[in-house]
Amino acid sequence: MFFEAFHDGEGCKSYIVGCEGSRAAVVIDPALDLVDRYIGELNRQGMRLRYIIDTHTHADHFSGAHALREEFGAPIVMHRFSPSPWVTLHVEDGHSLPPGTLRLGILHTPGHTRDSIAVHVEDRVFTGDTLLIGGTGRSDLPSGDPDQLFDSLFAKLLALPDETLVFPAHDYKGRESTTLGDERRSNPRLAKTERGEFVALMNNLNLSAPTHLTEALRTNMSGGKTVRQLLAEAGAHIPFMAMDQLRHRLAARANDFIVLDVRERDAFAAGHIPGAVHLPRGQLELRVNEVLPDPSVEILTICEFGKISTLAAATLQELGFQRTAALDGGMSGWRESGGEIE
Ligand SMILES: [Fe+2]
Repeated sequence: MFFEAFHDGEGCKSYIVGCEGSRAAVVIDPALDLVDRYIGELNRQGMRLRYIIDTHTHADHFSGAHALREEFGAPIVMHRFSPSPWVTLHVEDGHSLPPGTLRLGILHTPGHTRDSIAVHVEDRVFTGDTLLIGGTGRSDLPSGDPDQLFDSLFAKLLALPDETLVFPAHDYKGRESTTLGDERRSNPRLAKTERGEFVALMNNLNLSAPTHLTEALRTNMSGGKTVRQLLAEAGAHIPFMAMDQLRHRLAARANDFIVLDVRERDAFAAGHIPGAVHLPRGQLELRVNEVLPDPSVEILTICEFGKISTLAAATLQELGFQRTAALDGGMSGWRESGGEIE
């Protein structure tokens, strides 16, 4: 069996498992930031991706499942209770997936979330956030339930042999794996073998919310995009102008292009690039015909940090302004580099 573990640097773990003979592979809990690494590894191994599995709706990072599906066309596998519109293969407890000669057994393990599954293959089990090394997933996020977590841990996972290797979806201390036997002996949460005590423990953890909770749930549940994705997509279709080039163009005083400042009125009034035309991003589509009557004109969009101007430039391009670029670094970069302000 081919096996490779990946870490995103923020405690999220993901895995590629493959059948050595048929070169059929599965990726488990892919992170959006690592999609290029999975593609590189699969290509290097001469493997073909057959399934993309998310063990549950992640609340702390962005799933790379949809991006991998775009690349390989493999089905996205999640439990029947998953709300994600990208899921193309819904599984339930007891189902099995056959990449090559491997057999991936699906266990429904709700508690961390209602749609949590564990994936059992040969000598190991991928536990998602149900069972972690020395801990368990929390049960206080949307669709979590400590009562269900108790059953998933004690009746489902611990029913597997003690020597089973455990590969969780998270570890914040850089550890690779554990075994069910080791967890049974040393995991403090598994020491609470009485349901009431376990539930009380889980209900009194008082954990703070994960960093990206809202955005992660929004994108993973709805199939929407992250803000970074939106900016990256806009940025991929427009050119940028460097500070020095702008300085050079302004010094030439040829008046052959428009500097379009898309910040709000107060920010523009407080100081802008000499000669800049003002059109706030929020009014862009509605006032574009009045402010920019010539679609063949060269336009340089500017905002405070270079992000909103990227979106504005992409919008202008969609509206037919084909010579649109954004200032790399925005007004803050312009000021820092000693650029002239009016
Ligand atoms: Fe999770």
